[in-house]
Amino acid sequence: MISVGIIGGTGYTGKHLLEYCNNHPYVKEIAVYAKSSAGDKLLNIFPELCGIIPDQTVSSVDNLSYQHDLYFISLPHGEALKYVPDLYKKNKKIIDLGGDYRLNDVTVYEKHYKLTHNSPELLKIAKYGLTEFNVTDKNTDLVANPGCYPTSALLPLKPFIQKFSEEIISVSINSYSGTSGSGKTPKPEMLMSEMYGNVAAYNVNSHRHKPEIEQELLKDGLMAPMAFTTHLLPVARGIYTTSTIHLKKELDETDIKTQFNSVYKDKCFVRMREVPPKLTWVTYTNFCDINLSLSGKTLVITSALDNLVKGASGQAVQNMNQMFGWNDCLGILNSKK
Ligand SMILES: NC(=O)c1ccc[n+]([C@@H]2O[C@H](COP(=O)([O-])OP(=O)(O)OC[C@H]3O[C@@H](n4cnc5c(N)ncnc54)[C@H](OP(=O)(O)O)[C@@H]3O)[C@@H](O)[C@H]2O)c1
Repeated sequence: MISVGIIGGTGYTGKHLLEYCNNHPYVKEIAVYAKSSAGDKLLNIFPELCGIIPDQTVSSVDNLSYQHDLYFISLPHGEALKYVPDLYKKNKKIIDLGGDYRLNDVTVYEKHYKLTHNSPELLKIAKYGLTEFNVTDKNTDLVANPGCYPTSALLPLKPFIQKFSEEIISVSINSYSGTSGSGKTPKPEMLMSEMYGNVAAYNVNSHRHKPEIEQELLKDGLMAPMAFTTHLLPVARGIYTTSTIHLKKELDETDIKTQFNSVYKDKCFVRMREVPPKLTWVTYTNFCDINLSLSGKTLVITSALDNLVKGASGQAVQNMNQMFGWNDCLGILNSKK
């Protein structure tokens, strides 16, 4: 049994961490830390969780206790830098849901996040926790939980690139996200009056998740150019990603499907689909659904996941399970809202 601290537990991803940890047979204690809501009651912040989780007073992150075995960090980017080095020195297990420890190269981090990194030595230690590929274990102390868009792009692309990278001319990834992807802080462009009935691309050629996706696909042998374009959808949650791969020659679709089936056959949270998935098949779940379709020298792979679950808290709890040698599904499967 372990004790868990959730730093930033009053936000969107924090709420799911709370539910999953509360559901977990081996988590005996959960403490929530935040800044502006410190001192408030958790069930004032999340009244919908009344009767589901016990109430508690939110603690101030300024009085962080080091008594927990594991810390989830669910803070805006840059904020984790204030806590991770100390927690690491004190031999705590850490799972950071933000982007501060995902990029291996500090210069790439500083360019894309426009911040100075205070603990670049930990970038070499942090394990990139894409749970279906980089299995963490009892020796892992610091997990960089992947971004929501990168998870939605890497799960459908990695099996193909691992086997067929030499056949690729180019990869084009188009992702569509719901508004919860940017957290709970109000922003004018996220107002319903702006979003309703509307779709637009944003951060074109400059999204900070692009270097993260590139970093991981380069490890699989990607040599071809890659484009990544993000769009905002007028829905609250979910990411839909359509990846188009142009090939040098025609491949056999059965060989590609065999590769995906073999990579994912024992992975309980990835479902290969016969038709393109729909967002509603995966929202509020930890599943990533994938479909592929080959026509001549063009392969189109569609994928869908919930940004707050498989793209964040569900995957983070999978990482916790792997760090402690527990079954991947504990706490997550059968959890609803
Ligand atoms: N949303 C997604 O779909 C998603 C997916 C994958 C990864 N992520 C990453 O996960 C992290 C959290 O995202 P989120 O969507 O949950 O954000 P969020 O809804 O904005 O929640 C942020 C949390 O951090 C706390 N906080 C803010 N500033 C703080 C500070 N200076 N010191 C201490 N606590 C502070 C907030 O609480 P108070 O306001 O009470 O202080 C709140 O609990 C981000 O790094 C994000 O990039 C998000």
